[in-house]
Amino acid sequence: MSSLKWWENAVIYQIYPRSFQDSNDDGIGDLKGITKRLDYLSKLGVDAIWISPFFKSPQKDFGYDVSDYYDINPDYGTLKDFEALITLAHDSKLRVMLDIVPAHCSSEHQWFIESRSSKSNPKADWFHWVEPKDDGSAPTNWLSFFGGQAWTWEPRRQQYYLHNFLPEQPNLNYGNPAVIEEFNKIAKFWFDKGVDGFRLDAVHTINADPVHYKDNPANSNFKLGPLPQDQQPFFRQLHDAAQLNQPAIQEFCTSYRKIADSYPNDRFLMGEVDGDNDTAMSVSENFTKPGRLHATYNFDLLEWAGLTVSEIREAILKAAEIFNNTGRLSFAFSNHDVPRVATRQLKALGVSVKDSDRMQILLLKLQISIIGSSCIYQGEELGLEDVTDIPKEKMQDPWGIEFAPTFLGRDTCRTPMVWNKKLPNGGFSRANKTWLPIADKHLNRAAIDSASDPKSIYNELSKFLKWRKKQPAMMRANCMLNITGDHKEISFERQSDNQTLRCNFDFDTLTASFQEI
Ligand code: GLC
Ligand code: CA
Repeated sequence: MSSLKWWENAVIYQIYPRSFQDSNDDGIGDLKGITKRLDYLSKLGVDAIWISPFFKSPQKDFGYDVSDYYDINPDYGTLKDFEALITLAHDSKLRVMLDIVPAHCSSEHQWFIESRSSKSNPKADWFHWVEPKDDGSAPTNWLSFFGGQAWTWEPRRQQYYLHNFLPEQPNLNYGNPAVIEEFNKIAKFWFDKGVDGFRLDAVHTINADPVHYKDNPANSNFKLGPLPQDQQPFFRQLHDAAQLNQPAIQEFCTSYRKIADSYPNDRFLMGEVDGDNDTAMSVSENFTKPGRLHATYNFDLLEWAGLTVSEIREAILKAAEIFNNTGRLSFAFSNHDVPRVATRQLKALGVSVKDSDRMQILLLKLQISIIGSSCIYQGEELGLEDVTDIPKEKMQDPWGIEFAPTFLGRDTCRTPMVWNKKLPNGGFSRANKTWLPIADKHLNRAAIDSASDPKSIYNELSKFLKWRKKQPAMMRANCMLNITGDHKEISFERQSDNQTLRCNFDFDTLTASFQEI
């Protein structure tokens, strides 16, 4: 019945492949594992899957450091495995989105190995190579998201190179047309394999400007608070005037859009973008102007500390104001980068543990009822909690290893899925050791067990997704009106030509209700 494009209201399920399902008992999830679980996902009723990167990679940032964009990391399988996965997903009416990392590649990529070797090789200007200052120090004061300077010295070239994340993730130079051309080829390669869209990683960190490197100003609002992210020096600076969000990034966006539009069946581009302070929503707006990306993956509900009801409503109001009547926005409460919602929102909303499931069902229904698509993260449909007791020697995330114990990084939301309580490792793998430990506290929420429990979050969500498909106000138009509420309630109307649906989310009783008016 939909008159919208599929991506305007899609419910997208994010798979973190390393932790989803292991098929060959090496303790690492893989593509065949995903294929085995497509049935579980299609019964849940989601529209699409987004798979975090599975390309060749030394796994310094677990796949967000790609060393070959045209091939699969052996841990995860082969191109043939991917082709089988996409065919079966399409047979089950699930669209498939890949996670392309355009801003940086791995320092083990051939491009970088060649580029760093001299100042005159054919790839010499594929990265940001900059002379030191006269005193030998780095060209600017820029810091890396993961700690330390954003510049690393390369003795062979006697120059610094830029990396907004790890030194093993050198930033590509988008001021060089050859780089854009190569990434265009990458898009075509995967679209030709039938991929329905891309989540484009950290697009706001693409750096295009090879000459005008200037210092970031200090963040005058910075306060060293109790939150983990406050501990990181990165947030003592403002970035949008220099290091990030530079206008030239839009050249990449427009060239990707042209490619997507040249394919049939509405290929979708969703960019992960963020901005300084409270600007994520206006940054999103800028990235989705005509001819740029279709939508952006927005951070406003991903707040590490969790959000109050009023803060959630503020985000919805902003979304309505900037994006109403369009599906250019994708909201998420959870992903592979932030503490899990079951833990984080319980605290922020002051909900008691016994009411946790009801709170989570309410948040899922709310998120999915807002205009635009929404992304849910593996395990969110089970109500998995964050895992904060991983011993230091078992930690994997380089960000957490750098800042523990004040900040534990992202392993806490990346432990493997559990499928059957009674199987070894919860059915994730039969290996003696899994790449991150399985959390015992997750076992009572194992996926296959949950799917057969009528009262589980999985089944409540599944029922809701089926009901939603029959509501013209949710499926035929991206119109959201009359957003109201107080510190315990959010309500709004969704409207299409022939239906107005009053959607009410009561955080006192933890119930959602939908009424046709
Ligand atoms: C994005 C990813 C994150 C990764 C970073 C660098 O924010 O979600 O996991 O570490 O980009 O690629
Ligand atoms: Ca495996």
